[in-house]
Amino acid sequence: MSIKTVNALSHYTDWTIGHVHSGALGWVGFISMGSIYFLIPKLFGKEQMYSLKLIDLHLWIATIGIVLYIVSMWIAGVMQGLMWRELEVDGTLANSFVQSLEAMYPYYIVRFLGGLLYLVGILIMAYNTWKTIYGPSAAPAAQAQAA
Ligand code: HEM
Ligand code: HEM
Repeated sequence: MSIKTVNALSHYTDWTIGHVHSGALGWVGFISMGSIYFLIPKLFGKEQMYSLKLIDLHLWIATIGIVLYIVSMWIAGVMQGLMWRELEVDGTLANSFVQSLEAMYPYYIVRFLGGLLYLVGILIMAYNTWKTIYGPSAAPAAQAQAA
């Protein structure tokens, strides 16, 4: 995207949105969730999170969600860029903006599914956090170690 010829196609399109969310959901989101999973047991005097399996499940559901989100936006972005560029022989635009928007519907449905999976991951995390906080506390030795 920082290459001029690529940006000439990708700018203003959903490609940028795909890029933003690979950073936002993959980097910012995962680093934040990982930190929270690390901190919750320490803050509430527990040995570890209620279920490590649910953390794994969260990781994979969210990963699949991100992949659906960004792959659909990459394809949508390239399509938008190409449709906006396309010219008739007389030099007028071949597609209206609304036509390019209509072409995006299938990709927006895939993005929605990706977002839904990401949300399901967060709900799993909320359940796991709830069970950790209100579950049995760690043995005193483990608590001292955590402190
Ligand atoms: C080597 C890595 C990266 C490169 C070369 C890069 C490059 C770019 C470029 C060239 C744009 C402008 C696109 C345009 O307006 O046409 C852009 C936009 C953006 N990037 Fe990155 N990026 C990188 C990593 C990241 C990461 C890791 C994040 C987030 C954690 C991020 C977040 C964003 C956001 C939010 C925008 C859009 C800003 C807006 O709303 O206009 N980028 N990036
Ligand atoms: C699954 C969760 C998410 C969904 C479904 C979602 C959805 C969206 C949508 C539909 C847009 C508007 C795109 C457009 O203009 O066509 C957007 C923009 C944006 N979102 Fe998200 N978002 C999510 C999570 C996040 C997170 C966690 C962050 C930051 C950490 C974030 C940062 C941004 C930014 C910076 C923009 C502006 C992009 C731009 O215009 O360049 N999003 N998001």
